[in-house]
Amino acid sequence: MATNLQIDKERLWSSLMETAKIGGTAKGGIRRLTLSDEDKEVRDWFKAACEAEGLTVAIDALGNMFATRPGTDPDAAPIAFGSHLDTQPAGGKFDGILGVLAGLEAIRTMNAAGYQTRAPITLINWTNEEGARFAPAMMCSGVFSGEIPMEQALATKDNDGRVFGEELERIGYRGPETVGARSFAAFVELHIEQGPILEAEEKTIGIVTDGQGILWFDGTIVGQDCHAGTTPMPMRRDALVALAEMILAIEAIALDHAPSGHATVGEVFALPGSRNTIPGTTHFKADFRHPDRDALTHMEEDLHARVAAIAQKRNVTIDIRRVWRKDPIAFDPMVVEAVAASAQKNGFSARRIISGAGHDAFFMASTCPTGMIFVPCAGGISHNEEESATEDDCGAGAQVLLDTILRLDEALSGA
Ligand code: GLV
Ligand code: MN
Ligand code: MN
Repeated sequence: MATNLQIDKERLWSSLMETAKIGGTAKGGIRRLTLSDEDKEVRDWFKAACEAEGLTVAIDALGNMFATRPGTDPDAAPIAFGSHLDTQPAGGKFDGILGVLAGLEAIRTMNAAGYQTRAPITLINWTNEEGARFAPAMMCSGVFSGEIPMEQALATKDNDGRVFGEELERIGYRGPETVGARSFAAFVELHIEQGPILEAEEKTIGIVTDGQGILWFDGTIVGQDCHAGTTPMPMRRDALVALAEMILAIEAIALDHAPSGHATVGEVFALPGSRNTIPGTTHFKADFRHPDRDALTHMEEDLHARVAAIAQKRNVTIDIRRVWRKDPIAFDPMVVEAVAASAQKNGFSARRIISGAGHDAFFMASTCPTGMIFVPCAGGISHNEEESATEDDCGAGAQVLLDTILRLDEALSGA
């Protein structure tokens, strides 16, 4: 490598801690739901920070933010990197945020050294990676890649019936650029692992080779509201007891696909919501994951079989609707090797790893050569306010990100 640029891990950490105050929670996490006032505030911070570094910030019609630094060859396709600034309802300080702020740190380092890449470089903040408020996750990189229809994204509603497109307008981030109008030479995303492997094996860097598949379902169970004191047990059509069976069935499907299968019911609603009324209606949201495409399909078939059996046994109707399927993906060997070489150059311990969590890089992988870098997080805990990562590991990830960008810049220019 021609350069020896060193990122400033303390400067990165102070950006992480500064933005963590936006939507910061008492337990040390962040609540910064997509298109909330807090999302607007962190976007404003990010835009100002990028502009202070001389970047040109463009915003597309879904609020995806693209901050570009020119290269010496204006005709070269830009090398992109980034992640997301939105969080789970009770999220941590690192999920997504590290990838964006480490990208900013990489740019600050290049600016301080006056280093010029050949290709332009573009730092991205993707809208609605989490999918916690508006399903599915990775929605706006999904539209960017052409896999999710634009109209579907704009019309998506949250649990209170608020519409994505209107909320985007409300926070002032519906930009003029057509979604998917730009293309990139490569995309790299740095993220915390969100699982326990790197920490357990005392590795600093995860060289991500693959991403597992994801399946999301919305379900509604309808039985009958009835009096809790008078309805004989055999006559009940209790939608909440049926849901309890569904939840156990969903867990059983994952266990039948152990150790790689995962299944979760993460949201439940019981109506009408009275202690002494048998719940006649329940809604639930389920998430299935598997790194193998056929296994994911098998899990879906198993779900439908179990739905039918529980509906019959409990004398209820169960309507289950698939809202999203993202098949497993493989990252690009050129980018994977650039990450591996960058980790090695810096003397960081590393291992190859499959991503258990979903990331915008999964959608970007269908648009350009894409890869990911992981760093450890304490106890593998994520989607939790206590999520934590060390300053050293965040700094190591940012250094590998910077070196990967520079390495790709050289490789793509044929140098
Ligand atoms: C993204 O946060 C996911 O659900 O994996
Ligand atoms: Mn994330
Ligand atoms: Mn997340």
